[in-house]
Amino acid sequence: MKTIAPTHIAPSDNVESPFAVTFRHRLRYTNDVLGHDRAALIEMFEPSGDAAAKVQFFVDGHVAEARPEVVPGLARVVAEGLGRCTMAGEVRVVPGGETIKNDRAELDRILGAFNEANLDRRSYVVVVGGGAVLDAVGFAAAVAHRGIRLIRLPTTTLAQADSGVGVKSAVNFFGKKNWLGAFAVPWAVINDTALLETLPNRDFIAGFSEAVKVSLLKSPAVFDQICRTASRIRRRDLSVALPIIRASVEMHLAHITQGGDPFEAREARPLDFGHWSAHKLEPMSGYTLRHGEAVALGVAIDVIYSVLAFGLPRREAARVLRCLTNLGFTLNHPNLDAVEPLLDGLEEFRQHLGGRLTITMLRGVGDPIDVHEIDPDLMRTAIARVSQYGARARRTAHHDDTGRPRPSSPVRVNGRAR
Ligand SMILES: NC(=O)c1ccc[n+]([C@@H]2O[C@H](COP(=O)([O-])OP(=O)(O)OC[C@H]3O[C@@H](n4cnc5c(N)ncnc54)[C@H](O)[C@@H]3O)[C@@H](O)[C@H]2O)c1
Ligand SMILES: [Zn+2]
Repeated sequence: MKTIAPTHIAPSDNVESPFAVTFRHRLRYTNDVLGHDRAALIEMFEPSGDAAAKVQFFVDGHVAEARPEVVPGLARVVAEGLGRCTMAGEVRVVPGGETIKNDRAELDRILGAFNEANLDRRSYVVVVGGGAVLDAVGFAAAVAHRGIRLIRLPTTTLAQADSGVGVKSAVNFFGKKNWLGAFAVPWAVINDTALLETLPNRDFIAGFSEAVKVSLLKSPAVFDQICRTASRIRRRDLSVALPIIRASVEMHLAHITQGGDPFEAREARPLDFGHWSAHKLEPMSGYTLRHGEAVALGVAIDVIYSVLAFGLPRREAARVLRCLTNLGFTLNHPNLDAVEPLLDGLEEFRQHLGGRLTITMLRGVGDPIDVHEIDPDLMRTAIARVSQYGARARRTAHHDDTGRPRPSSPVRVNGRAR
């Protein structure tokens, strides 16, 4: 055998070429995107050369059912698109809720629809739905042809306040939350007020845990605002709810675009405050808990842990739990008793990110801290205290927004069961 003479390779031969790519994030607000505000959607489509942009719609099945005019309305918007856009295939109605993220066959069907419609990188996938449908269709759009333009029209408060502007999407795999996913910046996000109309109360409330979360990290003023208006938000008073959704989405967006780590290369992932347990509670509950409900429990747990371990003032923690309760969350769930499986969520959270365990906690409202160790005994205490608080709140009166107890029926997040 002939041997190849080694050439001398010096360390100075190594090549390192840092480079930056500029993205644009487009966030629009509309009142009625299928009606008088439809231009906001049409303007998003850039014709490809002389040809009209090809558009493929996906609609959350529960949205299509609750508002039958959505599916024909979308086709009408494209028909009126003055040559800017054309339908690539018929509007696809997909299963709403976490089902779509749990079933591999659904992912196959979405990709199959792209293929049948001959979508390419300059085509547009427009997805109308809750966070779960946005995630599943968004993931498919991120991997097909290595990325098709994605326009999100979120239809839940959670998706409008948080996930819609996110630069990641994922489906559940191996029984694990968001195990298979991708980072991709959406082409555009349109937060439309009318699309929230048919949202069941349970889901309307669920989104506000993410607003509480981000305000605890970034804005004491917004947190105060949520505390003051929690009962009105629960009653779906849009004059107070919409500004909170807007504040929340803009804080999430600012974190992504200005926080210096949009694709989460660093260990710390502050927007996931309260999420190590939330992501574990969701599968533990067989996905009967909504993501937002699990986040409310997770935020409550980490707030109490922050009192025990990092000196967060007790009165601040009490305000958080009262605020969540007044919003309509139940801070008590049978899975909180399964403490040991729940604590496994810490290791799963670490594995998802790699590297050291990094969890965000609070020293004060607006004063987050990243920690690398969790004391399991203190965490057991925190979980037990949240559970006891939630059980007491269910039995007794809840509080008004100023903290005074108010005699009334127990607060429950108990919307339409599906
Ligand atoms: N990618 C991200 O950055 C990110 C961030 C946060 C959450 N998420 C994911 O988002 C998902 C949760 O999203 P969600 O809280 O929006 O819940 P969801 O998508 O499960 O929607 C809740 C329910 O409401 C229905 N629905 C949605 N809009 C409706 C409407 N206008 N009228 C009637 N019914 C409607 C849905 O079909 C579903 O049954 C989770 O899977 C979570 O992991 C992703
Ligand atoms: Zn979340």
